[in-house]
Amino acid sequence: MNAPLPHLAPALRDGSVDRSFLQDVLGGLGAPRKHLSAKYFYDRRGSELFEAITRLPEYYPTRTELAILDRYGPEIGAGLAPGSALVEFGSGSTAKVRRLLPHLSDLSAYVPVDVSEEFLRSEAEELGRDFPHLRVEPVAADFTKPFAFPDDLRDAPKAGFFPGSTLGNFEPELAAGLLASFARTLGSGATLIVGIDLVKDKAVLDAAYDDAAGVTAAFNLNLLTRINRELGADFDLDAFAHQAFFDENLGRIEMHLVSRRSQLVTVAGVPFHFGSGETIHTENSYKYTVPGFRALARGAGWEHARVWTDPDGLFSVHALTASTIRRQ
Ligand code: SAH
Ligand code: AVI
Repeated sequence: MNAPLPHLAPALRDGSVDRSFLQDVLGGLGAPRKHLSAKYFYDRRGSELFEAITRLPEYYPTRTELAILDRYGPEIGAGLAPGSALVEFGSGSTAKVRRLLPHLSDLSAYVPVDVSEEFLRSEAEELGRDFPHLRVEPVAADFTKPFAFPDDLRDAPKAGFFPGSTLGNFEPELAAGLLASFARTLGSGATLIVGIDLVKDKAVLDAAYDDAAGVTAAFNLNLLTRINRELGADFDLDAFAHQAFFDENLGRIEMHLVSRRSQLVTVAGVPFHFGSGETIHTENSYKYTVPGFRALARGAGWEHARVWTDPDGLFSVHALTASTIRRQ
């Protein structure tokens, strides 16, 4: 798919543009209901804004999951086969694995996988400095697609770590497909530790995704800043507003960017019309019950081994075991 794009803006002609980003944006904004993939939030600034979100008083998931990992770390660590390479999907700041590492003394390697390449490399370097006996092998990749391990780790026994409820950012069918692909990546008998946010009161959820300080709004709008910079677009950031709400029927938070007026925006020379009030759907964040998540995991080829939650039942951490290797 390297055919020249029509009306390509001069800034894009030097070949440095990420073509799949461009194609996804043009496709998403050209759809009858405009949408963008949440994975594009995470440029360097997006990763930093996400870290700021994790420290907000309204955003309970991070501190709650950290408390679960602190409390049950020895039990969680005991479930991972000694000598494994630990693969973390969407590792971000690596704050969570730092809580597990003291309970995993003989890992053959830690392999953080993340699309936010610059942030991944600096966080991996810092982790390596703080844990000098740990082999850290960052992989900058989209975990929804096949990616390569360092040669000598390809056939090593593996364990997986997928905290933060990042799985909730996928539609349930895609989430099941992703879990099944992780089973193939990690291999038969592997353990996967997954963090999953739980269904709760709508007011708590709405506040967690629409904080008073406006950090989540900045995170959402940063996607437009990124598109302006990398794809030569002319989004006026003041002309879009952050919107987030929990849909109780669908069991998910939806995040949108709402056009404040009727306007025309150009991306790589391609014009898109926005009606006043029209939205770009930028993220879903599904919330599960423990039995609901267990059923999803089982359907994806994972036996449910253990679950740990906080006393208020806000968040859950699950240990899953890959039963069979599924071919698709
Ligand atoms: N695990 C961390 C970070 C969660 S934020 C925590 O629990 O706090 C989600 C992370 O997943 C970000 O670092 C983002 O860059 C990464 N990410 C999102 N979609 C991804 C994808 N498709 N492939 C690889 N990484 C992805
Ligand atoms: C990374 N992911 C699990 C976060 C979430 O809660 O869905 C992303 C996020 N979006 C807004 N706030 C946080």
